[in-house]
Amino acid sequence: MNSTDRNEDDPSRTPQTRFRVWLDRRTGLDSLLRTALDEPVPGGARFAYIFGSGLLFIFLSQVITGVFLALYYVPSADHAHTTVAYISKVVTAGSFLRSLHSYGASAMVIVLLLHLSQTYIYGAYKGRRELLWISGCALFGLVMAMAFTGYLLPWDQRAYFATAVGTNAIGEVPFIGGMLTRLVRGGTEMGTLTISRFFVAHVFLIPACIFALVASHIFLFRSAGAAGPITENPYKPTAKSEPFYPRQVLMDLSLTGLLLVGLGVLAFFIAAPLGPAADPANAQYVPRPDWYYLPIFQWLKYWHGAASAIGVLVIPTILALAVIALPFLDRSIERRPWKRPGAMGAFAFIMFGLVGLGLRSEYQDHHDPAVAQQLGRQKAEEDEYMRKPFEPDLSAASLAAANVNLADPLAAKGKTIFEAQSCNACHGDGGIGTAAAPALVAISAKFPSDQLTNLLQHPTAKMTAGAMPAVDLPTGDMKALIAYLESLK
Ligand code: HEC
Repeated sequence: MNSTDRNEDDPSRTPQTRFRVWLDRRTGLDSLLRTALDEPVPGGARFAYIFGSGLLFIFLSQVITGVFLALYYVPSADHAHTTVAYISKVVTAGSFLRSLHSYGASAMVIVLLLHLSQTYIYGAYKGRRELLWISGCALFGLVMAMAFTGYLLPWDQRAYFATAVGTNAIGEVPFIGGMLTRLVRGGTEMGTLTISRFFVAHVFLIPACIFALVASHIFLFRSAGAAGPITENPYKPTAKSEPFYPRQVLMDLSLTGLLLVGLGVLAFFIAAPLGPAADPANAQYVPRPDWYYLPIFQWLKYWHGAASAIGVLVIPTILALAVIALPFLDRSIERRPWKRPGAMGAFAFIMFGLVGLGLRSEYQDHHDPAVAQQLGRQKAEEDEYMRKPFEPDLSAASLAAANVNLADPLAAKGKTIFEAQSCNACHGDGGIGTAAAPALVAISAKFPSDQLTNLLQHPTAKMTAGAMPAVDLPTGDMKALIAYLESLK
């Protein structure tokens, strides 16, 4: 009998110890945790290394808040906006959770840029870290795709028009552009199919890829080992190392704490905006993407006509390939930034370029009076919409749609009778009323059920004048019809 067995069964041990040993014998969890926490950090713990775990934290926060939002959200053109308004205005802490999710997206992009900058400036992609870098690039792309797909889902004016611009830009790709746009939109126009495509990508496809890539990113990171300070050889660091736990863990937690408090305070005091529902007919609307897409938005303004393929496809592709291939292009083991003027110059050029484009876009918006005025009006409309109390969507289409799902089987049977007897020909689908006959919505408030039955069997003179026939049905069918009429609220 070895010592572990003794620990597992030894009654003199505490139940906790025995449970831990029991679990470890079956899962290896203890040793896994130990390996994770004992990971050597060459040169000791540093604040420069905290961004990776910060990203992991934001990702988890996005998953949790996202699950809450998905409990209420309905991905269709009829209901997307109403359900988001319901979350923002009615659901307890709904606005808080939605704001956390919305600001979390921005925080993700910021921390991602910091993580990427740190890796780049420290030359931490060198050594045997090519795959680690490439998986990081893929994660970057996926995060941007999450931001793009998530932006449409509230289906307000801002979401609709920004995504219209974004999906139009895809159409600039030569030859297959039109096809790509139709693929993304689920048709030529944006509507329910677009929402459901974006929803599926945002909630299932992209997160699944992110989970898989985060796992491989961490695995590859652990395989290569931490790169350590800039003076280290990327293949075999020689600096005295310190275990990951406790100091590095505490430093990492300090960023997590900062993010938690920062996002919490922001989401608590400033609700993420929601404007009026998307109105595709609005020709004045000036679309603007979220801040992290502004540089690309501005960039696209400079490319028109025949040259647009260069701006939309050629230059971005070359740039992306260069970034992905970086560890293969830059094989030197030199990591000190001041000894890598080419690499640092390229980094500065791209960063200044992005910031410059973003600022240029803001500048132009402020200095074109017509645009500035329209943007101001749009902001005011959003603020006004946010202040208004929640109004359930009572449009004909949504009422009819709401009636499709009848929970009561008797009422559901009554609905088929209502349609078989052509009541809907005069009273409209879902009893919403037409020019020929009044709405039957809320009829139960007017007549108790026996009176209603009587009325149908013996229509009033006015009903007869309106060509409404007397209803002659077997008792069971009549009951079902009445149950259906009473369900119309
Ligand atoms: C040919 C058109 C027509 C058809 C078909 C028809 N109705 Fe009507 N119905 C009317 C008109 C017109 C009135 C309203 C008369 C009035 O102004 O009071 C009416 C009134 C009613 C009322 C009373 C509404 C109220 O608010 O007082 C009920 C209930 C009703 N219909 C149920 C039905 C049902 C159930 C069916 C199917 C079995 C049906 N109707 C089919 C034309 C029609």
